[in-house]
Amino acid sequence: MDQGDNDWWRHGVFYQIYPRSFQDSNADGVGDIRGIIERLPYLKALGINAVWLSPIFPSPMADFGYDISDYTGIDPLFGTMADFDALVSAAHENGLKLILDLVPNHTPDQHPWFIESKSSRDSPKRDWYIWRDGKPDGGPPNDWLSEFGGSGWEYHDATGQYYYHAFLAQQPDLNWRNPDVREAIYEVMRFWLRKGVDGFRVDVIWPLIKDAEFRDNPPNPNYHKGRILTQYSTDRPEVHEIIAEMRRVTEEFGSRVLIGEIHLPLHRLVAYYGNDLAGAHMPFNFALLSTLWRARSIERIIADYEKALPIGAWPNWVLGNHDRPRVASRVGQEQARVAAMLLLTLRGTPTLYYGDEIGKHQVAIAPDQVQDPFEKNVPGIGVDRDGCRTPMQWDATLHAGFSTVTPWLPLADDFVRRNVVNLEADTKSILSPYKALIATRRKLPQLVTGPISRSQRRAISCFIDEMVPQGRPLLH
Ligand code: NOJ
Repeated sequence: MDQGDNDWWRHGVFYQIYPRSFQDSNADGVGDIRGIIERLPYLKALGINAVWLSPIFPSPMADFGYDISDYTGIDPLFGTMADFDALVSAAHENGLKLILDLVPNHTPDQHPWFIESKSSRDSPKRDWYIWRDGKPDGGPPNDWLSEFGGSGWEYHDATGQYYYHAFLAQQPDLNWRNPDVREAIYEVMRFWLRKGVDGFRVDVIWPLIKDAEFRDNPPNPNYHKGRILTQYSTDRPEVHEIIAEMRRVTEEFGSRVLIGEIHLPLHRLVAYYGNDLAGAHMPFNFALLSTLWRARSIERIIADYEKALPIGAWPNWVLGNHDRPRVASRVGQEQARVAAMLLLTLRGTPTLYYGDEIGKHQVAIAPDQVQDPFEKNVPGIGVDRDGCRTPMQWDATLHAGFSTVTPWLPLADDFVRRNVVNLEADTKSILSPYKALIATRRKLPQLVTGPISRSQRRAISCFIDEMVPQGRPLLH
């Protein structure tokens, strides 16, 4: 890929690395930046064009980095700023773009901003977070819930008010109505863009700004998906102004990319391209993660998405990430190949999740091995995300070549067989079609830009429905 190419994000293949689990270089059982540098030749040979790193910044790790206590630092667990600079250079020398995870919705409660904010009602940073009085009976200001279970409001004794947290109580939400908050985060973006990063995947971008009146969310008629809807706590109209501002910041630095994490139905999702396409370059499209794995539903999703896209908006697709069960376990090993074919031949930009190219499956995590705070908060209902975050399987040696010591999460039980070295030597392995398809995309731009044809549709239908006649639910 030509580094001067403005459209690189349209025809590149993106690859998400969960840094804790990619490669450990300093024998502490946790992956790190030096480890990623060691594995760049693998990524280059795979043929991908851009690497997105889940957070590597200083963090108390209550949510494994999605709680950043210093937006312009590197957590010592992952290395140093010098290591990061070396990664940027090495990635670029190998023709790879580097995308960072920006987490602007919340900070940890240990962030100096929050420590200042909670110090008194008169603190100059009080309004940087969302503080409200309780109801007359002392209860929380409204019915908003935390994504990780329980009320979204936490009472702070010392100042007698509640603060809002969309996730853990240790992750207070920033107040994006405050212009100083906006400017502070835009400066963070500029800091990394100056260092040469090629863009951001913005964490939970759609709930950034909340209802100005803090109205109660309405009950959810579809109860099994959550007791109440998130009508007033997410997807507010004002969010688009913020995203356009973020986009302008990225554009100060030339051809960089802004990707938004957005979990909304397609017709709402596409609004995140913004007026005149001045919003996110790519609002992440998670549709393949929640549809039934049957040809008809997939076909419908593709058609609906294509139809909903504003003119000129660029599509994108994903099959997995660090929050959702592995595709190989959702659809089975055979179908995982079909899924790869689909992902890598649909019009638009595909994002791969590390290890999906070797068919990594969801790893069963025993209760005493659980690390994920979501599972710890609401145990036993199947929300554990550890199983899709286990170490990469590089070879058949002890700890799969990931580390020389016991890793932070258990390895998959089949790593002796299912690992990069073995699969590279086996032309029939899943890795083989992954590599071939990625290479073919480079040679055949029609695969990247061409609309899906009738014959492609038929071929995909045959593959999916012949092999899984009953269809499989994508989530279980
Ligand atoms: C979305 C991230 O993908 C997830 O891992 C995290 O727990 C939440 N945001 C909260 O930051």
